[in-house]
Amino acid sequence: MIIAVDGPAASGKGTIARGLARHFGLPHLDTGLLYRAVAATVRRLELDPTVEADAVAACDFDDRLLDDPGLRDDDTGRLASIVSAHPLVRSALLQRQKRFANQPGGAVLDGRDIGTVIAPNADAKLFVKATPAIRARRRHAELTGRGLETSYEQVLADIRTRDARDSGRDTAPLTQAADAASLDTSNLTVDAAIARAVSLVEERIKGRAVL
Ligand code: CDP
Repeated sequence: MIIAVDGPAASGKGTIARGLARHFGLPHLDTGLLYRAVAATVRRLELDPTVEADAVAACDFDDRLLDDPGLRDDDTGRLASIVSAHPLVRSALLQRQKRFANQPGGAVLDGRDIGTVIAPNADAKLFVKATPAIRARRRHAELTGRGLETSYEQVLADIRTRDARDSGRDTAPLTQAADAASLDTSNLTVDAAIARAVSLVEERIKGRAVL
């Protein structure tokens, strides 16, 4: 079974994808980490993230980088949103994501284009959202909890910029697949959001079984 979880920054998609993976006993890939690894490599090599060839040169990163907690920083997220807009960066990362999705037994993937580009054949697709104010509050709490100095206003501004860039790009923009179920986590606790996601996936699977 393939489960696709898409949504904007700090919507709760990662937490939901991990919860689904645990519940259904499936491997999970946070595809944002791949773009974050490209971003961190661009920075380390002092390349220009806005130049497509520079960003492509950074796609050949060492997989051990994916375990680096530094990838979760907001700066890296911002840079990831710039490098991920290049079509050649997206195609460089495409096959490994498709392979992960189509492995025997299935998988859960979360990102921006899983239901639309990486796994259009997914058995269940969720589009996770929450208001920008709530997403900013969550991200701000997460960053300050990790000891990083930042203001709520700054985080909200970053979230708005990232939404505009991720939704406005020409290649694989952030958009809800026509057959994805929406899950608004604005007023849900983590446990409630995961429980809702599990029941949406179960409904989808049952729906497919009778088709
Ligand atoms: O958790 P958060 O949304 O802050 O970040 P992320 O999911 O790790 O994604 C970081 C950036 O990578 C996003 O702003 C997107 O520009 C890009 N991304 C993408 O283009 N496609 C994906 N499948 C996943 C991430």
